[in-house]
Parts: sequence; C-alpha cells; structure tokens
Amino acid sequence: MNSKKIRHYLQFKDFSLDEYAYVFARARYLKQKFKNYETYHPLHDCTLAMIFEKNSTRTRLSFEAGIHQLGGHAVFMNTKDTQLGRGEPIEDAAQVISRMVDIIMIRTFGQDILQRFADHSRVPVINGLTNEYHPCQVLADIFTYCEQRASISGKTVAWIGDANNMAYTWAEAAQILGFKLRISAPPGYRLERARLSAENLPWIEEYDDPFAACEGADLVTTDVWTSMGFETENEARRQAFAQWCVNAAMMAQAHPEALFMHCLPAHRGEEVTAEVIDGPQSVVWEEAENRLHVQKALMEFLLLGRIGH
Ligand code: CP
Ligand code: NVA
Repeated sequence: MNSKKIRHYLQFKDFSLDEYAYVFARARYLKQKFKNYETYHPLHDCTLAMIFEKNSTRTRLSFEAGIHQLGGHAVFMNTKDTQLGRGEPIEDAAQVISRMVDIIMIRTFGQDILQRFADHSRVPVINGLTNEYHPCQVLADIFTYCEQRASISGKTVAWIGDANNMAYTWAEAAQILGFKLRISAPPGYRLERARLSAENLPWIEEYDDPFAACEGADLVTTDVWTSMGFETENEARRQAFAQWCVNAAMMAQAHPEALFMHCLPAHRGEEVTAEVIDGPQSVVWEEAENRLHVQKALMEFLLLGRIGH
C-alpha cells in the first residue's frame, strides 16, 4: 500500500467537503453492514498501530474494534511501556513504526508532535486527539447530526464552555460544511482568533452569555471544563466555568428540535446537568457508537482511496 500518495488525517481541514460526503456515505454503508452482521474485510492483513500518550476509552476501543471488523489487526502502544516514554525521538519512532504497520493513530499532547511524526511516517497517520484538535470526534458528531437531521449545512451550532481542542475542530468544520458556530466561553478561556484562518472567522460568532448563544440553535454541544493535560488548572476552571453548565433552561433557548451532544467522558453537574445529558434531546450514545463507523470509513479511505459500493 506504500506506492500510493500518503494522506494523513491530522485536523479537520485536511479533507474537502466532497471527501467528507464520500466518507460519510461509506460510514453509512459500513454501519449498515455491521448492523446486518455482514462480514467485510477490505483491510485484511492490515495492521493499525495505536499510540496513546493520554487516557482513552472510546478512541481505543473504536479503532481497535474497527480495524478488526475490516479484517485487520491493531497494536496498542502506551508510551509509558515503549521507548517513546524513555525519550526516543518522535521522528525515529515514526520511521520505525511506519515500516512495520499500514496505518497509525496517535493520541498525544501538542499538534507539533503529531505533525513531526506524520512528516517521518511512510503510512497514513490519524489524529486520535491532541491539545489542539480532535477531528475523529467531530467527524462522528457531524455524521450523527446528519443521521438525525439530514444535513448540517446552514444550521447553527452552539458550543458552550472551554474553547478547547473540540471547539477548534468544530470551528474548522463550520467553514468546510457551511454551518454557523456560536462559541460562549468564560473570560480567560475564549477562542484565540489568531489560531483561525481569515476564511474560517466569518463562520464563528462569540457570545459572552451562554443562554444567548443557544437561542434558536439547532445543536448545543459542550465538553469537560478541564481537558487532559490541564489538570493543575482544575480548581480555577471549576470556578470560572460555573455559569457555563448546559441545563434545561439553556436548552429551552434552543430550537425545539435541537440536539445535545458531548464527546464524553462527561461530568454531570459540571458542564452539563443529568437532566440534559440523559434527556430526550441528547444523542451522546449515538455519537459514541458512530466513532466506530466513521473511523472504519476513515481508515478504509486513507488506505484504499475511493472504492465503489
Ligand atoms: N471522546 C473520546 O475521545 O473519548 P476517549 O477519551 O474515551 O477516547
Ligand atoms: N477536550 C477533552 C476531550 C476528551 C475526549 C480532552 O482533551 O481531554
């Protein structure tokens, strides 16, 4: 498979609208096959290396189950147990690992680490979450929205809480898929506009008041107040984010048909109330399940390109 031009998936803007349409169509197809218990092994004999520098439940399981269901095999690598944890240069690790497997997923800290790894890899590299982005999650979230409501184009998404890796990924997606992203975060935790491109900014609106951000929104979404790697800020964040808890009153501002999403894991009583996350507008379990289906489509696309179905 090394003769093809290598494509990586390091951030949401790595794919075009047309490519997203293809990947979503494949995800629907693969999901249907899975639901029908049909065997389908287009990636037989392929090995996926999964490198984790941070904890994970969904990402690990969905990639491991996903490659297995496509006929391949996964190798879990925790940096603590590998030479990466003892200071082996990331470039050397990329050279070695990419000579032995067909595709690699990494969850790490800085996006620069991921980029350096990809620059030295002979095979496709997928971002399994960095401090800056979480594209596989937003891929699943938008697929979920489209399953429930047909299309996200022209819709309004309200992001309530930390302007974190998920928020910046939603920001990139807004421009590509053509929806408005409203972001409401407390002072000190707001979006750095300099991180977004001039083409991206017109798709983003910032709100001081989270209730105002939800007014008429088609989707309300949030995430933890303290992301992995920022644990020392936990107490300060708890205080700063106290008014940014998605509750029933906030959801009542949104469109009556609005959905609620959270990438999980969630903290009921912090960024969202139990009433909302366990309520009728919440699609968090569908979102989590769809990680499996979209990432199968993603791996198939990165390794085989477009195939008919
Ligand atoms: N949403 C998500 O990426 O979950 P994990 O941290 O469990 O992988
Ligand atoms: N923003 C969170 C997402 C976890 C899936 C984090 O980075 O910890």
